Amino acid sequence: MKKGIYRSRLGRPAQKEAAAFMSSLKDDEWIYKDDILGTEAHEIMLHENGLLEKKELKEILRALEALLPNYPPSNTTDFEDIHEFIESSITQKVGDELGGKIHTGRSRNDQVSVAIRMRMRTEINCLSKGILQFVEELLDKAEIHATTVNILYTHTQHAQVGTFGHYLLCQADIFLRDLERLKELYRRVNMSPLGAAAIGGTSMKIDRNRTATLLGFDGLVENSIDCISSRDVILECAAILALIATNLSRVAEDLILWSSSEFRYVELADEYASTSSIMPQKKNPCTIELVRGKAGIVQGHMMGLFSLTKGLLTGYNRDLQEMKPAIHFAFTAVLSSLEIMKGAFATLKVDEVRLDGEAKNSHALALDLAETLVTDFGFTFRESHKMVGQLVATSVKKGIALNRLSANEISSTARKVLGKQIRMKPEQLKKVFNPHLSIERRRSLGSPSIGEVKRMLGDRRQILDQHRTSYNLQVDRLEGFLDILSKRVKRYLGGT
Ligand code: ARG
Repeated sequence: MKKGIYRSRLGRPAQKEAAAFMSSLKDDEWIYKDDILGTEAHEIMLHENGLLEKKELKEILRALEALLPNYPPSNTTDFEDIHEFIESSITQKVGDELGGKIHTGRSRNDQVSVAIRMRMRTEINCLSKGILQFVEELLDKAEIHATTVNILYTHTQHAQVGTFGHYLLCQADIFLRDLERLKELYRRVNMSPLGAAAIGGTSMKIDRNRTATLLGFDGLVENSIDCISSRDVILECAAILALIATNLSRVAEDLILWSSSEFRYVELADEYASTSSIMPQKKNPCTIELVRGKAGIVQGHMMGLFSLTKGLLTGYNRDLQEMKPAIHFAFTAVLSSLEIMKGAFATLKVDEVRLDGEAKNSHALALDLAETLVTDFGFTFRESHKMVGQLVATSVKKGIALNRLSANEISSTARKVLGKQIRMKPEQLKKVFNPHLSIERRRSLGSPSIGEVKRMLGDRRQILDQHRTSYNLQVDRLEGFLDILSKRVKRYLGGT
């Protein structure tokens, strides 16, 4: 182990295991590119403020650009982190005299903060794109299945009849909310902490607004303590990632249950299924199970990150280094889960015939009967609830479906249970027990009636378009700034 560039205070190099234990070099690959860009912006600003000669800047930028495609060797513990690796590598190229100026007015504390925020905004954009595409898939599928009858569950018991399209619209709404959350988060993440130095600012003539603009930030994290100490945006991000993962996990559970032999409502495409090494009959929903499984780990990481932070004295503490791999994992897991779910839905087979049959023979139409007694025969709802409850009990005892009860049986039950004289006609009863007509009878806003489903579909497509437009603006704006930075660097490199 060689003696690192920061260790002048210490007599000896770090002990081998201690160096390996401290080093975040491997985890820092995640922020490698961002750290180089952050350093370029800092050096340009130093030059603009008279702290670096033009030709010095050019030499430093050339060395930084040469580093860009070459990731640090992952097997070395010679460096504490990516920041030491970059500064050492540049210094090796440009010599101690000039290399010694790179870190003027900057600390690793603000350096790592800015790199993490840069990486997070890129990850947030990737994730937003993933959600946009997933929701689009859900809406397309919802359109196809706008009239596909399905069964709605409460307590994992048949509740009411609905449509598969309506179910998919529910999922689309959930992920549209996640999109909003990410948009909000982006606003808070895209603020520059660079220029706080270690914690209390610097006496060097630096320009924080300039580096913020060069790097495409929308503003500054102002307070220098806040810049290097706070990690609330990472915690917020971890919470949002855990939420998206949890939302995905619930959809996953629906698909897992509904594709089981007992349900057979849906079937995953072979491309998204796996098999067994021993049981030849198996078609396992492994991809979807892993979406559910990863959600647990993402939740765990969120908890880990909160726990890591809660007892830290205000200021920088090395514990914070451990946040990077956890949040990096969460981003990767959620993004890949979104892609899997999008593909699984795009290729999902929905067994409409089976769903239709199940709905017809289900007690899920009991409420329809109860409501017909209210609307057509003037019962109070409690009266009809009582009576239909008894009818269900009778049909369960007889082992027949509710729709097998005759109109006469219903009229006589009304007499026996409530002392009411009604004459239910067989055609009337047939309509009650028709799942498609049941859905058509739903008039309340947000219900699965075709009209409502179509209205919601149109509305959500519009909302999705708005999200897409603002996402494109966000990405273009960032790319625009980074493009200007890259051109500026090239101009310095081309100049004399
Ligand atoms: N590798 C460190 C991290 O990831 C960088 C900051 C180190 N700062 C310090 N004062 N030791 O947090």
